[in-house]
Amino acid sequence: MRARAPAALAGVAALAALGACAGPQSALDPRGPAAATLADFSWILFAGGALIFLGTMALLGFGLLRPDRTKGVPPLRFILWGGLVFPGVTLLILTVGTAMVGNAIDFRRLEDPLRVTVIGNMFWWEVVYPDLPGGRLVTANEMRIPVGRPVEVTVTSRDVIHSFWVPALHGKMDLIPGRMNRITLIASEAGVVRGQCAEFCGDQHAWMALFVVALEPADFDAWVREQQAVPAPPDPADTQLARGRAAFLEAGCGACHVIRGLAEGPYAAVGQLGPDLTHVGSRLSIGAGVLPNGVGPLAAWIAGVQDIKAGARMPSYHTLDGETLTALAAYLESLK
Ligand code: CUA
Repeated sequence: MRARAPAALAGVAALAALGACAGPQSALDPRGPAAATLADFSWILFAGGALIFLGTMALLGFGLLRPDRTKGVPPLRFILWGGLVFPGVTLLILTVGTAMVGNAIDFRRLEDPLRVTVIGNMFWWEVVYPDLPGGRLVTANEMRIPVGRPVEVTVTSRDVIHSFWVPALHGKMDLIPGRMNRITLIASEAGVVRGQCAEFCGDQHAWMALFVVALEPADFDAWVREQQAVPAPPDPADTQLARGRAAFLEAGCGACHVIRGLAEGPYAAVGQLGPDLTHVGSRLSIGAGVLPNGVGPLAAWIAGVQDIKAGARMPSYHTLDGETLTALAAYLESLK
């Protein structure tokens, strides 16, 4: 029995390793045709590499162990076939295969794409739908797309180079200041996948996540209508929400954030430095993936941004008293 232990351990390790291949942020768990093609090609490369490795090890073993070293393939012929012809043909196949895969996952010529612009910021994603029926729509750290329709994502950056990578849908595309790069995604099934900035951009590069929510077309249209609507002001009878709304204006949050419909008195929520918060309560996460959405996390975020995500461009508002902070968080959470 004891002899079987290493084999069992190896089996468990292999299962654990394969388990890491699944999930919402895995290139090997594709949710769209481009990622599926890339995953298939990756497995072919892996299998080919493994075969070549095993063949090389077999030849090495044979060379070391054979009894009569004077016999065998003459060295020159071995170098010609093994060192020139075989790698040459392998590299040629790889080059042609890579070009074919690159062509197969280039969806730029597909018709009627949904256009989305993704703008990189240290350390969050602005997501703009420039030409939806009903007008432009801006959100952050989350991109909702209809299943089956090509989505032409134009990426650029406001500060440093970032990289847009949603492994379950497609490969990477760099966000470069002053440049517009394009990548066209297609989701083949409804669901949530996670993307991640894939170019080191500063101290919170790792917490620059982006959720892509693929919705059935009718659900997507309904989401667009909800997001395009201006949220109604809170019921004056709800003193907590009214207090939160006033706190948002008085604390000066509007200098960096937009809440559409919230522009009164000397303050207006029209700032362009931070994420648009018009419907922040409807998002999956806050802080580009660092916290789940909710009143508690929002309050923690506002009071302690720099403890939660040091180096984020927003200061910690730790001078707000507890009731004001809770009211502010409850108001933001009510913006569905
Ligand atoms: Cu943005 Cu790394």
